[in-house]
Amino acid sequence: MGKNMIRVGLLGMGTVGSGVFEILKMNEEQVRSRAGAGIEVKKVLVRDLEKERPVKIDRKLLTTDPEEVLKDPEIDVIVEVIGGTGVSRQYVEEALRNKKFVITANKDLMATAGAELLLLARKHNRNIYYEASVGGGIPLIRPLKHSLGANKIIRLMGIVNGTTNYILTKMSMENMDFETALAEAQDKGFAEQDPSNDLEGKDAAYKLCILAGLAFSSHVRFADVYTQGINNISKRDIFYARELGFAIKLLAIGEENEKGLALKVHPTLIPLSHPLAAVHYENNALFVVGNAVGETMFYGLGAGALPTGSSVVADLIDVARNINHQVENGIMETEFKTKKIVPTEELFSAFYLRLQAVDKPGAFANLATAFGDEHVSLDMILQKRSVEGLAEIVLVTHAVEEKRFAQALKTIKGFPAIKKINSVLRVFEK
Ligand code: HSE
Repeated sequence: MGKNMIRVGLLGMGTVGSGVFEILKMNEEQVRSRAGAGIEVKKVLVRDLEKERPVKIDRKLLTTDPEEVLKDPEIDVIVEVIGGTGVSRQYVEEALRNKKFVITANKDLMATAGAELLLLARKHNRNIYYEASVGGGIPLIRPLKHSLGANKIIRLMGIVNGTTNYILTKMSMENMDFETALAEAQDKGFAEQDPSNDLEGKDAAYKLCILAGLAFSSHVRFADVYTQGINNISKRDIFYARELGFAIKLLAIGEENEKGLALKVHPTLIPLSHPLAAVHYENNALFVVGNAVGETMFYGLGAGALPTGSSVVADLIDVARNINHQVENGIMETEFKTKKIVPTEELFSAFYLRLQAVDKPGAFANLATAFGDEHVSLDMILQKRSVEGLAEIVLVTHAVEEKRFAQALKTIKGFPAIKKINSVLRVFEK
């Protein structure tokens, strides 16, 4: 006989915690029938007992003492929705040592300490579920762990940060400036506490660590990911990109080739015909290419109480089924190896370059020679009529080894006729 009630200890009662509560109430019967047991929140760890909560909650459930939750022998599963890597890590470790299953929505924790925590879970014959840690309500972890398990994953490319996608969409579709779009994203609650984590691509890099780890069966560290944010993207670049047939998106990209893994987060010009170019505003999406399945794409809301709560409650259903029926949780991350990371300068990419040159004979010839000398082939060229003697030139190259492009750029910067390099962006051309 299995348990007919699974008891939950909730650590944190912010946006995601309240979403979990709401879904457990809203879909109680459905959750019970799918889980094969009732799911009841028995205790909730909060910082402030008096604070107003977005959902109605029995005050008797609240405590400020973590031990009351983590040591309660009746609690089967701990849901960690505090965030960060400080106390949340201690609590998760203690929960596992106390033989509780753990569900977390915490990408920073899973990206930086996932490997150790999953091993600890194994040691105690428990598991960690983390569907909510990447992409909010979009199913990403389960497809990578289960449904795509038959594939060798060739590439994954994701729009995994809602804040930056919102900003780029507003700049592109509504001609809004960067600061106003950021303020709107913050108002709507998409941004991290420190929005520089969004803007500099760090949030996306954490998420890439988790996704690429699963896709390539490798332990991936934050330091393995080349990261460039969207701070320097201007409306001019968005305008030119569109004229050339591209959208600019902050992409998290993971690829495996014969040399190893390539892991990058950077603003990317992507053809308007690519499905990722149609992912607008705060929406997230992950495009995965497998050697058997071909191209697949997962799309939806990457944050918010109910979307993220949806992933947490799905994990609760899995935990209940695991407790009562010993249903295993897909491929085991504890068996991963650490694969070689290919240095960025050895990777191949096409580039977009916008610069200002003196409108005099030979300026363009110099550029062409600098590129030719490094075997950089040009794909597209735009030059508008010069303003006050300065011509703005936009170039798109074919794919080239990054170090060759960097060398050509260094040479170009040294030409007296080149007054300013305004932007250098990578282009996805497949
Ligand atoms: N700041 C994140 C985003 C929230 O904008 O996507 C979800 O992780």
